[in-house]
Amino acid sequence: METPRAILGVALLLLLQTLDLVTARGEDICRLFSNNTVIRDPESCSQSITCIDSVSHYSRCTGSTPFFDKDTGKCVKSLSTSTSSCSISCEDRTTQFLADPKSCYGYYYCADEDTPMYGTCPQDTHFNATTQMCSRQYESDCTTSTFEYCNIVKNSVNFDNLQGCNMYHVCEKGVLKDKTCSKTYYQASTGECVSKALVDCDAHPLPTDVCGKASKPYENKFVADEATCRGYFYCAKQKDGTPDANPQWNQCPQDKFFDATSQMCIAPTSVKCSYDRCDGRTASFVESATKGCRNYLSCSGGVTVAENSCGNYFFNEELGACTPNVQTYTACKS
Ligand SMILES: *[C@@H]1O[C@H](CO)[C@@H](O)[C@H](O)[C@H]1NC(C)=O
Ligand SMILES: *[C@@H]1O[C@H](CO)[C@@H](O)[C@H](O)[C@H]1NC(C)=O
Repeated sequence: METPRAILGVALLLLLQTLDLVTARGEDICRLFSNNTVIRDPESCSQSITCIDSVSHYSRCTGSTPFFDKDTGKCVKSLSTSTSSCSISCEDRTTQFLADPKSCYGYYYCADEDTPMYGTCPQDTHFNATTQMCSRQYESDCTTSTFEYCNIVKNSVNFDNLQGCNMYHVCEKGVLKDKTCSKTYYQASTGECVSKALVDCDAHPLPTDVCGKASKPYENKFVADEATCRGYFYCAKQKDGTPDANPQWNQCPQDKFFDATSQMCIAPTSVKCSYDRCDGRTASFVESATKGCRNYLSCSGGVTVAENSCGNYFFNEELGACTPNVQTYTACKS
């Protein structure tokens, strides 16, 4: 019975990959959310997370208002039935303990028919509804459930979609929607579409026909990423003769820009490129792409912070200074 196992393997792999997008290497979920966004903890119906500078800060709802309502941001007595993944009913369960549907360590105690109270098991233990006890984690079959974003995020809050630098999500009437920034990139910390240079992201979207059209594919060729001056995609020759649909992205070393003509990484002054010319530069002042070679950029942390003019002089990038000698760098040639 080889086949079913193989299929199961593939299904599992897909599942793991999907989950990986969300909790990649245990990274903080708050890296997706803008400053001071409050969401429900995907692992507990009783906890909220406030995202401060991309870091999770937890608060717990206790006592007779044990549930966190993501829409109002308040601790409540019960959640509307639409949030079914959190529904707990104390009907006919007075003085019993119920498992938290969103965590292995949480439980609810039914003080009476309609008052669940939230509690958690000690470190390294899981709640077991059958035995009504917290038992050692290794004896437990419980695994943390997956979650849907729109169960933890309220409507109209933008958050990052790691699949592309220009992509983000928003829940509309509880349904997850994909959105794209036009000609800009999504900045998770502010929840806005901003200039590409301001976003530290390697998941550059593929330009249209990046590896050529079906009638004339680029084979074993480097092409510009159309987002940075250093970045490029490698279009590999495909066995079936179609354009590479999944070209690998990479970037030139510091202080080199990608040049499509020579297919090499070369001196920035020799490359015409008007994306952020401060990206990957070690100098504080670099040539601007503005025609005439009289302008220069001030760089800070690999990002342009200002553009200035040498007036009647020309900016000499080697010297990092304005000089009277005429400059005719390719980068800024008229
Ligand atoms: C994020 O919010 C916190 C708390 O309101 C504030 O102290 C911090 O400066 C903010 N961070 C940024 C980058 O604005
Ligand atoms: C709870 O405990 C029972 C009895 O020990 C065990 O059979 C069952 O698998 C446990 N349930 C979970 C979810 O670990």
